[in-house]
Amino acid sequence: MEANAAKRKEPRKALRVKVISMGNAEVGKSCIIKRYCEKRFVPKYLATIGIDYGVTKVQIRDREIKVNIFDMAGHPFFYEVRNEFYKDTQGVLLVYDVGSKESFEALDSWLAEMRRELGPHGSLDSVVFAVCANKVDAGKLRVVDESEGRLWAESRGFLYWETSAQSGEGIQEMFQNFYSAIVELCEIGGKRPPGGRKPGEAAGGAPRVHAVSRPAPSGIRGSKDSWDLLGLKPGASRCEMGIARGK
Ligand code: GTP
Ligand code: MG
Repeated sequence: MEANAAKRKEPRKALRVKVISMGNAEVGKSCIIKRYCEKRFVPKYLATIGIDYGVTKVQIRDREIKVNIFDMAGHPFFYEVRNEFYKDTQGVLLVYDVGSKESFEALDSWLAEMRRELGPHGSLDSVVFAVCANKVDAGKLRVVDESEGRLWAESRGFLYWETSAQSGEGIQEMFQNFYSAIVELCEIGGKRPPGGRKPGEAAGGAPRVHAVSRPAPSGIRGSKDSWDLLGLKPGASRCEMGIARGK
């Protein structure tokens, strides 16, 4: 009895989740993450080399979640590096540039790449997707309008957000809803109900962020998980993770 009472008082265990970013090169994946984590924008393009890794803690309602973010390079050249990082993912930031039709049309091939890498036993039903229609700031001519992007995303049961890493528009709200949806999905057993799902409630609490990166080593095929691949322990501290992102 006493043991049970003590057990009830224990705080809920932190949830560990893995999030990846996907989308063509130059659509703004790294900038979206940087805007959220560091509240700043870097106008100069510095292509991600292979994979960048960062970890952040977020409070969603009564639940602490440790988010491990694997920011993928979008360039086809890095296919061999990123293809090992799709497995065991709970959330995907699927990004396109509203000024590039090509990046929007490539979303299907990004899903296909993920499906292919997960193999016949993998399922996208256990993954929350947040589609980011990025670069909505006035600086660029828009060629993919909101209704088109929203339809693509929502018809697949994905979240849809208009974002600008430059101005910060939509970034905070998108991440809050994204993380809430991941927590909800975990709490209902990790499978999305058929016919799409509603976005989670936004939750408060400022994230504690340690954005770091290191290039993925070569010759990584056959390793166990995404942390092994980078030579890290899951939830590693900043020191264990190495090089701070210079962007
Ligand atoms: P890869 O790492 O090569 O896959 O590219 P990425 O998708 O990570 O793109 P990145 O975040 O490096 O941004 C590419 C370029 O777009 C940079 O010059 C950014 O400054 C710019 N950029 C990113 N987000 C925005 C945005 O919201 N608005 C505008 N105007 N430019 C942006
Ligand atoms: Mg990048």
